[in-house]
Amino acid sequence: MAARILLIDDEPNVLSSLRRALTGQGCEILLAGSGPEALDILAQTEVAVIICDQRLPGMSGPQILAESIKLRPDAIRIALTQHADLKIAQRSINEGRVSHFLLKPWDNQHLRTVVREGVRRYELQQEIRRLHEVTSRQRDDLQQWSRLLERKVLERTEALHTAHEEMLDALVLALDSREHRTGGHSRRVAVYCLYLALEVGLAPEKLEDLYRGALLHDIGKIGVPDTVLLKPGSLSEKERTIIEQHVVIGHRVLQGIGYLKHALAIPRYHHERFDGTGYVERFAGTAIPLEARIFAVVDVYDALRSHRPYKDAMPHDQAFAIIADEAGTHFDPAIASTFLRIAKETWDSLARSAAKVNRFDRALAACGRIRADTRPRERSAAA
Ligand SMILES: [Fe+2]
Repeated sequence: MAARILLIDDEPNVLSSLRRALTGQGCEILLAGSGPEALDILAQTEVAVIICDQRLPGMSGPQILAESIKLRPDAIRIALTQHADLKIAQRSINEGRVSHFLLKPWDNQHLRTVVREGVRRYELQQEIRRLHEVTSRQRDDLQQWSRLLERKVLERTEALHTAHEEMLDALVLALDSREHRTGGHSRRVAVYCLYLALEVGLAPEKLEDLYRGALLHDIGKIGVPDTVLLKPGSLSEKERTIIEQHVVIGHRVLQGIGYLKHALAIPRYHHERFDGTGYVERFAGTAIPLEARIFAVVDVYDALRSHRPYKDAMPHDQAFAIIADEAGTHFDPAIASTFLRIAKETWDSLARSAAKVNRFDRALAACGRIRADTRPRERSAAA
């Protein structure tokens, strides 16, 4: 589209001369005989260059140019004047952002050069503005894509995380059913263990690994033959050694799985005893990882309270008495003491909730907590 030049002067002869001088320059020429007429044109039309006489009746040249800025801020403004009047020049430059002065009578060649230069500058400005807009739009698009991608990654990570949890839970239920006929022991001890860990004050970022470790504590029994694992009556020395190996097998199975490598403490050390007489490492006191010391208490409690083909479920008070009795020998006394402060109703309620819990966030909810900041430091995406 041809650039538009607006010529403003109250003398028709001047307007005609200017138009004649600029005709054939590839521009569209618009004429205005007064300030209001010029502003009317500017309000409706985009203009590249404005040439305005400085002495006009009514609105003066500097006034018209100052008003034109509001309508067409990018237009190039040229002042046309009879005399080199310093005051008018100052006002035109300050208020009208005039970039060039033309003295009457003008030289046509010079006029054309000045106008051509003005159009070039105007078009350059427009191009810069257009590029700015394109860049800004592209930046917005990029930010939008980046946010979308981030959301997708989070969704996929969460889906993967849930799939892992559900798969583990199903595996553990199957293992539980093999040994205990009725599943549920692992889910219960995982929820009990989480509750006790919260009471003990285990670091929040360790809770999910603790939950997984508790759920998988006996995963190593997968490597113990049925003839030994399900044997009724007492075990021989050799059979006991085979059974004890489940902590080693469990550790070996889990350490090869990326997202479980931080959940090994319970599967590996849950049969250690505080006095160092457990198996298989015979660690004592705080040499046993805290998670395993917490777990040992709830594992025994649940075993005591559960019905087995060879024994009845023990009443709560009796189970509590055994835990209290073994504080300092089997159990960490501080953890046993925390455990014993928790009411029977709480353990019963946790046992009921555990039957429906197959994920960490649900286990937390069963303990009256929310996930909040308990997630382990972003391992799940890579796992
Ligand atoms: Fe075990």
